[in-house]
Amino acid sequence: MQTGTELARRTRTDINTLEAVALAATRSAALASHAWVGRNDKKAADAAATEAMRRVLADAPGRGAVVIGEGEKDAAPMLYNGEAVGNGLGPDFDIAVDPLEGTSFCAKNLPGAMATIALAEPGTLWSPGPGFYMDKIVVPPAAKGVIDLTDSPERTLEKVAGALGKRVGELRVVIMDKPRHRDLIARVLRAGAAAHTPAEGDVGGSLEVLLPTGDADLLLGTGGTPEGVMTAAAVRGLGGDMLGRLAPQCEEEAAAIRAAGMDQDRIHTCDELVGGDALFVATGVSGGSLLSRPRESDGTVLADSLLISSGEVRRVTHTTFGSMPRVSEVAS
Ligand code: FBP
Repeated sequence: MQTGTELARRTRTDINTLEAVALAATRSAALASHAWVGRNDKKAADAAATEAMRRVLADAPGRGAVVIGEGEKDAAPMLYNGEAVGNGLGPDFDIAVDPLEGTSFCAKNLPGAMATIALAEPGTLWSPGPGFYMDKIVVPPAAKGVIDLTDSPERTLEKVAGALGKRVGELRVVIMDKPRHRDLIARVLRAGAAAHTPAEGDVGGSLEVLLPTGDADLLLGTGGTPEGVMTAAAVRGLGGDMLGRLAPQCEEEAAAIRAAGMDQDRIHTCDELVGGDALFVATGVSGGSLLSRPRESDGTVLADSLLISSGEVRRVTHTTFGSMPRVSEVAS
């Protein structure tokens, strides 16, 4: 067993294996959910992505455990927490999945939906227990070390602007357009920064912050815990910074967190969310500025992925012969 070592200390063969597993998993999920783009059925799209990803992971070389699945919060179909995957022949790995991030974007044929996964050394992914939501700040490498979740939004803007050598008025801040963020968005705008407010998708929003080609300077607000762990894997890979803190959105969630003995006020660093080297992969489903949607060309299917691992970002285009899966082939 390879528990306890970091990905960096794995053999090159193991790393190649894990990268291939992650790419195959998100590619399969992306193609399956792409069949549901614009069909106004986010549950079916999510189910198709999850089933496709589950099939790939079931036969993957190695021994994987789903530490953080997706679906409990929205009662969506899921790769459930604790699910064991893999054929047992190869490296051990823990998994965080969000087979379809941006389910509504997919259902409405809007840009931004993507299939995502993070693979990490066993025991290194934080488990949020019954916590579905968390407060998050994500910043690029140049602002590493300056953020504090107890700061006011205005102070955070000043600090990040200082670290990036910009004026607050030049900052572009990603905040999901949710009722819970009404005050936060108003304060960011009053401080003079620009707010980029997608309806959903804080993993994509974080990638816009982290990637050198991205279009934003920081992400603020409250989003899902699975998405937080996925994001932390990308943050580690790209050398940015992130802080997270559980943020239950109802009394039932808060009571479940207390009953699990978790400290709701604890601020988690990126290293606590993902405690070792990890790899993160996203494959485009509905297109957008980060990733293209899958497409057919001359009897082949092309899928567009980003692989983030050990400080490297790679754009990978998978090409396979055949045609795109149809709804009848991926029906849930
Ligand atoms: P899904 O598409 O996987 O449901 O996630 C979309 C998303 O916007 C995440 O990016 C975000 O972290 C979370 O949902 C926020 O949850 P909610 O929509 O309940 O506010």
